[in-house]
Amino acid sequence: MANISDGRLAGKMALVTGAAQGLGLAIARSFLEAGATVALTDVNEQVSAVARELDPTGKRASGYVLDVRSESAWTAVYDKVGAALGPIDILVNNAAMTISKSVWDIPADEWDDVMAVNLRGVFFGCRVAGRHMRERGKGRIINLSSLAGQRGGVVAGAHYSASKAGIIVLTKCFAQELAGKGVTVNAIAPAAIEGPMTKEMPAEKVQGLAKTIPVGRLGSDTEVGAAAVYLAADDAGFVTGATLDVNGGVFMR
Ligand SMILES: NC(=O)c1ccc[n+]([C@@H]2O[C@H](COP(=O)([O-])OP(=O)(O)OC[C@H]3O[C@@H](n4cnc5c(N)ncnc54)[C@H](O)[C@@H]3O)[C@@H](O)[C@H]2O)c1
Repeated sequence: MANISDGRLAGKMALVTGAAQGLGLAIARSFLEAGATVALTDVNEQVSAVARELDPTGKRASGYVLDVRSESAWTAVYDKVGAALGPIDILVNNAAMTISKSVWDIPADEWDDVMAVNLRGVFFGCRVAGRHMRERGKGRIINLSSLAGQRGGVVAGAHYSASKAGIIVLTKCFAQELAGKGVTVNAIAPAAIEGPMTKEMPAEKVQGLAKTIPVGRLGSDTEVGAAAVYLAADDAGFVTGATLDVNGGVFMR
């Protein structure tokens, strides 16, 4: 992949969900580096402070509270961001609840909560953005799936894995709807990315995990960010309905 600091997303406006931390924040950083203006959104109100840290001027990064479970919240924030920063060219549906639990122990309300955030939230995001982008005749939607959604979770719970599998087909549904309108819809399926969870793990455990990965190491959040920049750029216009695996070769199709 080419250097992302090449201004590939200059003049583009992006909205990222679940961007107060983790991969959402890393993707927002990569987009900024590639020249885009970014609206960081999250259910966590800290997102405004996080955005200010990225860009104290507020000209290229700003934070908005958005709970992805609500379609009316989506519409309100989409309109607000559009009025403040201009029409949205790129949407990244990243927000998620990650819960590890045995299939035997998942309570019904927890199943519903995970589906509401991870799958319904992505459905609403694609629908709200899709309508606007369809009208403009251009746009990019990127949905965060997971290795767990491709082969079932070992660590992640069945609710999480099922929601991530659902995202792959939802991506195809919206890709088919929007393919003729200049809008692409793709998924990224990461696995074993270094982050707060792996930093807390004992070094031997991380090394053991790395040995199970063909490339011999864990992935980095900047590698996920670079994948998002690739899919968001104009020259990825012939890629739609795809799932880009960022997994070090753990799962090959
Ligand atoms: N980190 C990994 O190794 C990994 C691997 C595979 C897939 N993924 C996927 O990447 C994405 C990000 O993962 P992460 O590890 O950075 O997660 P994370 O838990 O660190 O961050 C998730 C963010 O989503 C936000 N969020 C939760 N509920 C929300 C809601 N209702 N509305 C809006 N925002 C909400 C949280 O506040 C948080 O900021 C997820 O979709 C996850 O499934 C991550």
